[in-house]
Amino acid sequence: RGPYLTFHADPFTVDPMEALHHEPDGLILIENGLITAAGSWDSLRNTIPAGTAVDHYPDMLISAGMIDTHVHYPQLPVIASYGEQLLEWLENYVFPAEARYADITYARAVARQFLSELLRVGTTTAAVYCTVHPQSVDAFFEESERLNTCMIAGKVLMDRNAPENLRDTAQSGYDQSAELIARWHNRGRQLYAVTPRFAPTSTPEQLDLAGALLATKPDLFMQTHLLENRSEIAWVRELFPDRASYLDVYDKAGLLRPRAILAHAVHAEEADFQRCHDTGCSIAHCPGSNQFLGSGSFPLFKALNPERRVHVGIGSDIGAGPALSLLQVLSDAYKVAQGLQTKLHPAQGLWLATAGGAQSLGLEHRIGSIRPGLYADLCIFDPAATPLGRIRAQTAETLADRLFALTMLGDDRSIAATYVAGQLLHKRNAA
Ligand code: GUN
Ligand code: FE
Repeated sequence: RGPYLTFHADPFTVDPMEALHHEPDGLILIENGLITAAGSWDSLRNTIPAGTAVDHYPDMLISAGMIDTHVHYPQLPVIASYGEQLLEWLENYVFPAEARYADITYARAVARQFLSELLRVGTTTAAVYCTVHPQSVDAFFEESERLNTCMIAGKVLMDRNAPENLRDTAQSGYDQSAELIARWHNRGRQLYAVTPRFAPTSTPEQLDLAGALLATKPDLFMQTHLLENRSEIAWVRELFPDRASYLDVYDKAGLLRPRAILAHAVHAEEADFQRCHDTGCSIAHCPGSNQFLGSGSFPLFKALNPERRVHVGIGSDIGAGPALSLLQVLSDAYKVAQGLQTKLHPAQGLWLATAGGAQSLGLEHRIGSIRPGLYADLCIFDPAATPLGRIRAQTAETLADRLFALTMLGDDRSIAATYVAGQLLHKRNAA
């Protein structure tokens, strides 16, 4: 019980505050992990089955759990590594860090930390890169299954331009992925993503086999990186001289379709957005990472052009992103939009991190909103939890102002609790 927020419309097509539904004294009824009813306390209080426990959050804002559409769990230990842009950062920090996941004991320890940190920041679903080692995927899904979180993850495919100990081959990558799909895809709430890291680290043969793998099941996910950094883009042009563009490399391999998530797309042009729209794939907007690595500013409102709308979700992109909290990532998204002379309304931001993220993953029938039939994956925002949030809360009068202050000033402290399939899995220590 408590005030809750959810969306009944898309805040990029109607007035953002009209799209948002605010129930000032609401009740969300949960049975067997699913939401069975949601509405005002007064209208539902008499329908509560006898013996039902009621958790009460009177001064909070209850929301659907947040959805991180692009993140690398193995990079958690190298978050905030100094001084480089994409390609040197990968060489110097990321590849050495990822080599450690040949050891499943290490992988299990980091997977556990990572998922616990995700819940602490109110994120209940994520699209996650593991490493090239199949055991890094087992370690991750084992822990996610234990928590009953809905996670999308996959083994990184990398058969060239990476250190020897991080390379598979086109065939071994295919075989290992096929095995992991058989073991994990649709097991409980776990979902598999075929994960070629990005064009430079896969041969054309490997990309074609990734496409062949996707062709075996229409509900598999695909995740990769796209058009992130200028040196990377020049390199792709050299490596694939007979392809019309970076995105064309993926398209020709059969990778573009619904449930394909392309991270960054910072330097995408109109033709790229058009092709994303035509193929139904999604973009993960990672503003914190793009600023941290100096990659550039993703033109969010161009991607969302209603004439040929592209699905967009929001991604922390840990370890290139310096924050796991999607509230902090939304604050970055606002500032990046401002720099492009556009305005990201807080309701639009929250939508990207919840219902819009779910839509971009093709999971809107399961998560991302507070609605009967969906999983009870929830986070409880406490707008007054941070010192500056508390000061601002005294003057913020409208819901829009409160929500904006939450997304600008909020972080892990702003999450009072997190529920996954109705289970309370995180509760913040009393302040
Ligand atoms: N491009 C290829 N690999 C990576 C990665 O791990 N992080 C980011 N930000 N970009 C990439
Ligand atoms: Fe990334």
